[in-house]
Amino acid sequence: HGELRGVVALDGPSGTGKSSVARRLAAGLGARYLDTGAMYRAVTLAVLRAGVDPADTDRATEVARAAGVVQGTGPDRSTTHLDGEDVGAEIRGPEVTLAVSAVSAVPEVRALVVAQQQRIIADALDEVGGIVVEGRDIGTVVAPDAPLKVYITADAEARARRRAKQDAASGRQVDLGATLADVQRRDAHDSSRAVSPLRAAADAVVLDTTDLDLPGVLAALLELVSDRGLLA
Ligand code: DC
Repeated sequence: HGELRGVVALDGPSGTGKSSVARRLAAGLGARYLDTGAMYRAVTLAVLRAGVDPADTDRATEVARAAGVVQGTGPDRSTTHLDGEDVGAEIRGPEVTLAVSAVSAVPEVRALVVAQQQRIIADALDEVGGIVVEGRDIGTVVAPDAPLKVYITADAEARARRRAKQDAASGRQVDLGATLADVQRRDAHDSSRAVSPLRAAADAVVLDTTDLDLPGVLAALLELVSDRGLLA
């Protein structure tokens, strides 16, 4: 395919298959991959471990400032460490998933995490020239100058089915009704929060993946990357 030059910003709600496709896109184009949600999850784990109520924004911010979150950017093996410990599995568990919306809604926490993300992106561009960044506010806040922004979406039902399948694959108990309710609750929370609400950047391409499989989404993204002249 060639190598990616620059930043591809992939935003959208959970359960669209965004992570798998972001990772594959990066791997196929010799680029790095940044999972920004994992960083909010790691901070949330730190907050929970400290016994801090996520609603206590001052203390949550203190914990976030002190937490040593290290997010790897290898597309094949994206790792998350908290104070030296590999927390990749734990941050996907139900406790963190339940609390992450509240923690990621704290403006001071977001400012800290966004600054760290911008440093990671700058380093990746220096080192390999290209990075695929996945999250909720990449095109709007983290990388507003990205030459390609894609907002990936899908019907809530389709997203709940995907999430349930993922949970089942990782050996967790699955209740489709509860999963759909959780998807809708998080959508509402993420779209209505005051700081960096989930929304497509004005200059983002909207890609609805309800009726696309992973190869289909990947093909659509590759075409966009190529059309923008981002391949070297
Ligand atoms: O993509 P994910 O499910 O791992 O994201 C976890 C949470 O973090 C989700 O509730 C939204 C939030 N998030 C955010 O606010 N901003 C981002 N750039 C990425 C994730």
